[in-house]
Amino acid sequence: ITDPLVLFMPSGKRGRFPVGTPVLDAARQLGVYVESVCGGRATCGRCQVEVQEGNFAKHKIVSSNDHISPKGAKEERYERVRGLPERRRLSCSAQILGDLVVDVPQDTVINAQTIRKDADTRVIARDSAIHMCYVEIEEPDMHNPSGDLDRLKIALMKDWGLKSLDFDFHLLPQVQGILRKGNWTATAAIHKDAESETARVISLWPGLKNEAYGLACDIGSTTIAMHLVSLLSGRVAASSGTSNPQIRFGEDLMSRVSYVMMNPDGREGMTVAVREAISGLVDKVCAEGSVQRNDILDSVFVGNPIMHHLFLGIDPTELGGAPFALAVSGAVHIKASDIGLKLNQGARLYMLPCIAGHVGADAAAVTLSEGPHRQDEMMLIVDVGTNAEIVLGNRQRVVAASSPTGPAFEGAEISGGQRAAPGAIERVRIDPDTLEPKYRVIGSELWSDEPGFLDSVQATGVTGICGSGIIEVVAEMYLAGIISEDGVVDGGLSARSPRVTAIGRTFSYVLKEGEPRITITQTDVRAIQLAKAALYAGTKLLMEKQHTDHVDRIHFAGAFGSFIDPKYAMVLGLIPDCDLDKVSAVGNAAGAGARMALLNRGYRREIEETVSRIEKIETALEPKFQEHFVYAMALPNKVDPFPKLSA
Ligand code: FES
Repeated sequence: ITDPLVLFMPSGKRGRFPVGTPVLDAARQLGVYVESVCGGRATCGRCQVEVQEGNFAKHKIVSSNDHISPKGAKEERYERVRGLPERRRLSCSAQILGDLVVDVPQDTVINAQTIRKDADTRVIARDSAIHMCYVEIEEPDMHNPSGDLDRLKIALMKDWGLKSLDFDFHLLPQVQGILRKGNWTATAAIHKDAESETARVISLWPGLKNEAYGLACDIGSTTIAMHLVSLLSGRVAASSGTSNPQIRFGEDLMSRVSYVMMNPDGREGMTVAVREAISGLVDKVCAEGSVQRNDILDSVFVGNPIMHHLFLGIDPTELGGAPFALAVSGAVHIKASDIGLKLNQGARLYMLPCIAGHVGADAAAVTLSEGPHRQDEMMLIVDVGTNAEIVLGNRQRVVAASSPTGPAFEGAEISGGQRAAPGAIERVRIDPDTLEPKYRVIGSELWSDEPGFLDSVQATGVTGICGSGIIEVVAEMYLAGIISEDGVVDGGLSARSPRVTAIGRTFSYVLKEGEPRITITQTDVRAIQLAKAALYAGTKLLMEKQHTDHVDRIHFAGAFGSFIDPKYAMVLGLIPDCDLDKVSAVGNAAGAGARMALLNRGYRREIEETVSRIEKIETALEPKFQEHFVYAMALPNKVDPFPKLSA
């Protein structure tokens, strides 16, 4: 008789095991990740699974609840004391009696950072660098003079199958008190990131400790976003964001580098500012998630190279000019306390590798999240900020660059421009016959020509126009014939419509009358043309490097991408021609990538390896950049066709 067949879902891994094998052991042998803190003592409840009943013809399995052992005394006790959801079993106790299909429930991870888009829901397979390991330790004995720590070490290595184990020094003075307090039981937080690394106990609690948290943080030059995540369930316990206080030293990245160059204590000031803001965010997420700082054991940070360096306390001056040398490009593994971040005393900090002097750990995180290297389609990923980071590739090859788009897409340096916030115009339509506009603002569902609009924006009024609004208004002006292919506002229309008016020697379009009056000037149109030409030219260079004349899929990362309408992005020629239904906004993909690296160390190896293979293109040094840029100044482009747009 052959042994029962067990199939684990959703991984699809399967194997045959003798009758009586605990389901958890079968999972372990197949490399299916199931959490366990108590080491199979039926006390932590982390190892829950569900048996699927039915006839799984495709796999030739008939799975039934009769094929699993009934609840034993320990499991029943757990159910009495802690409760067990219906159909759930503790895999450490439940034994295989016959063919089984076992579901390993994955807690859904919600990306709360995505403010206005449907929440990004995704499941991240878990295998974090931190494991919580409960043990029972032999009591001291005069005939066995070994130290308490040494007996703890032996117990941990035996129960958790570790070949070697070290302890963080700060634990030595605490170990005797903890073991006695726990009546010779304890839970160790064991850190092991890379396979080659020695496992280390980084924290210790008396008795069973069934909680462990981590931080995933994206340090943007404008905003900092943080998630507090349970390392044991993968659940996001809290998310928060704040503006980067370094803004007071300089709006954009280059002005912050200049500030460091001009002021002897400039680097120090900006490092302190960003670390304080991060510490404030830790307070916020801890309060929101009812979590103690001491329970945070790991953290993952991403950011562009300048944010990355300033956060680590590294002078970013070298990044201000060619050859844009990074102090460190590989992943950084340190203790959180090394940079004064107060979490658990032993907490670790991991930063993803940087791709190049202009393309940082944030772009690496976006790549990890979107995974061009995991698929066959030619995927373009665009993260628009004051610098656009562009990644293009597929399984065969990935190339990356950054392009100096300037701040126009964020609403800066545009006459009526502002950041995306309630009151900002985000959608615009212009009637091609009358040239009359209508618009919608953030915070209201109504168009400006609908009844009740004014009441709906009463709280803020209409305050300005944000990046997505600027894209739409310029595209609509082009579609309505107000601006030419070269972006020139047609002054002749002023005879037909009061919306087109002369300002000095050029013409402007009046989008909104009254207070504040919002006009789109010739200079505004130029600023958008320059920004979009820089983005397109960078993309075009990467396409040439890939020897491709098309892209299959476009992902817009970051806040900007979430709000722009792909159709208008294409009307302006911001992005190359592509099926519109294959252009999507992916929200804070850098934050999602950071969460992946937090919850699964396999993703750290994956992105380290991928980044080492990504080919970096320095747009400033490429002779063809200028040529592409000039063609891309036209709307949508002087030479490149957009067949999908007309279709
Ligand atoms: Fe802790 Fe099963 S491993 S309850």
